Amino acid sequence: MNRFSGKTAIVTGGNKGIGFAMAERFAAEGANIVLASVEEQVEDAASRLCDCGVDAIGVLCDVTDKAAVQALYSLAEETFGGVDISVQNAGVITIARIEDLAEWQWDATMEVNTKGVFLCCQEAILRMRKAGRGGRLINIASGQARDGFIYTPHYAASKFGVVGITQSLAKEVALEGITVNAICPGIIKTDMWSYNDRVWGALLGEYGPGELMDAWAQNIPMKRVGEGKDVAGLAAFLASEDADYITGQTINVDGGLIMS
Ligand SMILES: NC(=O)c1ccc[n+]([C@@H]2O[C@H](COP(=O)([O-])OP(=O)(O)OC[C@H]3O[C@@H](n4cnc5c(N)ncnc54)[C@H](O)[C@@H]3O)[C@@H](O)[C@H]2O)c1
Repeated sequence: MNRFSGKTAIVTGGNKGIGFAMAERFAAEGANIVLASVEEQVEDAASRLCDCGVDAIGVLCDVTDKAAVQALYSLAEETFGGVDISVQNAGVITIARIEDLAEWQWDATMEVNTKGVFLCCQEAILRMRKAGRGGRLINIASGQARDGFIYTPHYAASKFGVVGITQSLAKEVALEGITVNAICPGIIKTDMWSYNDRVWGALLGEYGPGELMDAWAQNIPMKRVGEGKDVAGLAAFLASEDADYITGQTINVDGGLIMS
């Protein structure tokens, strides 16, 4: 299939994990790709996509910085003539008991996961509206936007926020050919769960590597954690013409972990 031939997709947090898997899928179906990330490897990641025969650029961009986000979308327009698909995927997590959860953790999580989604959606809609050819916004929320996991109230709040942004904007732009949907990945094996002090803080010594994740995986009816490509399939569907009449929806990709 070449469903995205001639289209351009921006994927934030696109240099690895779920973001790169989605970008690879869009590229495989013909899209030009703009990867954005705070990690320098973003340029290498874009080169790997170019090796597949599409045009791709990697841009250093902090999604919490409005000027940087504006510059990102301007660059996409200058390079590829517009933005058709905007995937708000950049996200961070930290894990802590309530007594250890610091104010900076709340602020940093809300800044990236919620404000970052807002800023990118805003910029994408303004550009798509001006171009007048519709578009697709896909926001990466989380199973934690359905049912908060233990030790992550700040992350759960940030992801419930993503669903709110999705529903509100979907209503606002429904007559403009722009759809806005959210995806809730369950437990996906990526660097987000890296077993290090920055993510796990005081809980690091309490659980062995992967132990908490394994315990959560036991609750997945399919008894396996997900992979980036599991999420990429849904993202490609939502970005395609087959999803023309779907907007404001929040869809789980989690092996059955959450059924509401
Ligand atoms: N892995 C999971 O189990 C899981 C589950 C549910 C939801 N999610 C969500 O999926 C998305 C992707 O996560 P992942 O698992 O691939 O993690 P990851 O750590 O592999 O990737 C996160 C990406 O976000 C980027 N990023 C972080 N802060 C940024 C900022 N300020 N500006 C721009 N980019 C920034 C990182 O550089 C990285 O490229 C996140 O929104 C995450 O919350 C992940």
